[in-house]
Amino acid sequence: MTPPAVFTGWGSALPSTIVTNRDLEQRLDTSDAWIVERTGIRERHVGGTVADLATEAARNALEQAGTRPEDVDMLILATTTPDETVPHTSSIVHHRLGLGGGAMDVNGACAGFVYALVAAYGSLAVGARRVLVVGADCLSRITDWDDRSTAVIFADGAAAVLIEATGGADPLHGGPGLLSHDLGIDGSAHDLLYCPHGGTLAMDGREIFRRAVRATVESATMALSRAKVAVEEIALFVPHQANLRIIEASCARLGIPPQRTAVVLDRTGNTSAASIPLALCDALGTERIADGDLLLLSGFGAGMSWASAVVRWAS
Ligand code: ACO
Repeated sequence: MTPPAVFTGWGSALPSTIVTNRDLEQRLDTSDAWIVERTGIRERHVGGTVADLATEAARNALEQAGTRPEDVDMLILATTTPDETVPHTSSIVHHRLGLGGGAMDVNGACAGFVYALVAAYGSLAVGARRVLVVGADCLSRITDWDDRSTAVIFADGAAAVLIEATGGADPLHGGPGLLSHDLGIDGSAHDLLYCPHGGTLAMDGREIFRRAVRATVESATMALSRAKVAVEEIALFVPHQANLRIIEASCARLGIPPQRTAVVLDRTGNTSAASIPLALCDALGTERIADGDLLLLSGFGAGMSWASAVVRWAS
């Protein structure tokens, strides 16, 4: 059991350059109608570096929390597109913000943010008080902009949350924090989505689609069962933002209606590790989350990896 913890701050960062489906129509054999119908994406943000976007998102979270950077005990940066092979990008973000404590990158592809969040609660369990969790990716850097099968999907962005240990009841007895999680991976499918050093992303879209729905439903169901929470009790489902059809198919099987599902991919595209916290921040910005709400976060991605968590929100 992890200790009770609250979200004291959150923030996001998107590059200022917006690429619309109409822009892509100009250079690729594709159409706005095809992209919207097959993916739900209308536009995406492109540009910047992971360190830039992660720093901006984390700074926004710290400012909202009113927390001094030196009082942070750990930075966990989920990214699958580190700016350089060495050093880990979190070291740059840690330096720029003047954070206290340690810093590490977590590469769990599009499931990375939930992996990082679970690791953050684990850090609280071994004595950290404040952990900054950031999801940030610049997929545009490893996308072949002449390949219509990937160029219409991937994009850039970052979002961050600050979690802080608190007193009182533990999460399984009504307190805030992590009730349950489910992490998994099927490494035999690692070649369905890959990018060699210096290369661009290649993927088997249809097979990933099939596996994504199955992994999301099974992993979310496992997390709900471990939390002893019925799906009707979930106030908001925050899924990975890869494809609206994947989200809709998963929701239909889980029994979660659209009004209890967070969706931003129409405006962001697939931003990998940033997608779940971007959707979370968007829902917070539109006041769709209140203290005491149960949230179900669920991601899947390259690897193929998956990760789900049930969290009782309190700020
Ligand atoms: N514009 C127009 N036509 C296209 C495009 C495009 N951008 N892309 C593919 N097509 C064509 C194909 O060539 C094919 O034509 P054909 O029938 O003449 O052969 C047709 O559209 C259908 O292609 P499919 O691949 O079957 O299309 P599908 O409906 O599966 O949609 C997509 C493709 C959007 C890629 C979908 O499979 C998908 O979203 N898969 C999941 C991908 C994903 O989530 N990847 C990220 C994983 S998360 C991570 O770790 C980063």
